[in-house]
Amino acid sequence: MKIDIRNVTHNYDVEVLHDLTFKLDGYTSVAIIGISGSGKSTLLRLMSGLETPTNGDIYIDDQHVLEPDYKKHIGFIFQHHNLFPHLSLEENITLVLEKTRGIDPVKAKETAHKYLSLLHLEDQVYKKPKNVSGGQAQRASIARALSVNPSTIFMDEPTASLDPILTFEVLSAVQELRGLGKNFVFVTHVLSFVRDFADYVIFMHDGKITEHGTPEILDHPKNQAFKDFMMKVK
Ligand SMILES: Nc1ncnc2c1ncn2[C@@H]1O[C@H](COP(=O)(O)OP(=O)(O)O)[C@@H](O)[C@H]1O
Ligand SMILES: [Mg+2]
Repeated sequence: MKIDIRNVTHNYDVEVLHDLTFKLDGYTSVAIIGISGSGKSTLLRLMSGLETPTNGDIYIDDQHVLEPDYKKHIGFIFQHHNLFPHLSLEENITLVLEKTRGIDPVKAKETAHKYLSLLHLEDQVYKKPKNVSGGQAQRASIARALSVNPSTIFMDEPTASLDPILTFEVLSAVQELRGLGKNFVFVTHVLSFVRDFADYVIFMHDGKITEHGTPEILDHPKNQAFKDFMMKVK
């Protein structure tokens, strides 16, 4: 994928991203790491077009992220699954396909089953979110995001609310998606997953990208903030 971030600043009550300029081409699975408050979620939301930067522009695969068409090509996975509680896992997907993509009910059902199976949920399709585990619900969110065939999936700490076993279950399922030809940009604190799944790593500190490179940078952090981070999370 291509990432092209040009002079992006972002303010809430204070400036939290400081004149970010960053270009990347040729990687498919990009991890964003850094301590809490460093600006990872803000950057992810800006890259996915969910929020508008105070200044600057972001292009993903040569498309400006604020073009209306862009959102059709991406999926976003949040910390907590955001499935509709009153619908089954299957209906969570068919609803989106029918209402937002105009897909007919038979095809929508077929697609829902295909992606739920891909995430190993074939025996859970008729259950409501409250009747499956947190890991299964999060996998269903991933299935739903994939069902519209996006080119890029953004994930913001997708396992933050899960225990270690469920975290493993979700992250293993994500790793199996490698062959789908999708791009992933994700924030996580699970460094083993970064090592296994990312082909590029961005370290953020205090609203800036201060170090980046292939996952080997995890073994040789250069700047002090990255060294401190690696000491703490290991
Ligand atoms: N909606 C918001 N309103 C005000 N401040 C925010 C909001 N979202 C994030 N921030 C602030 O922006 C900074 C970066 O936050 P965030 O992008 O969430 O960092 P991270 O995901 O790395 O923890 C933090 O200081 C945070 O308090
Ligand atoms: Mg965050």
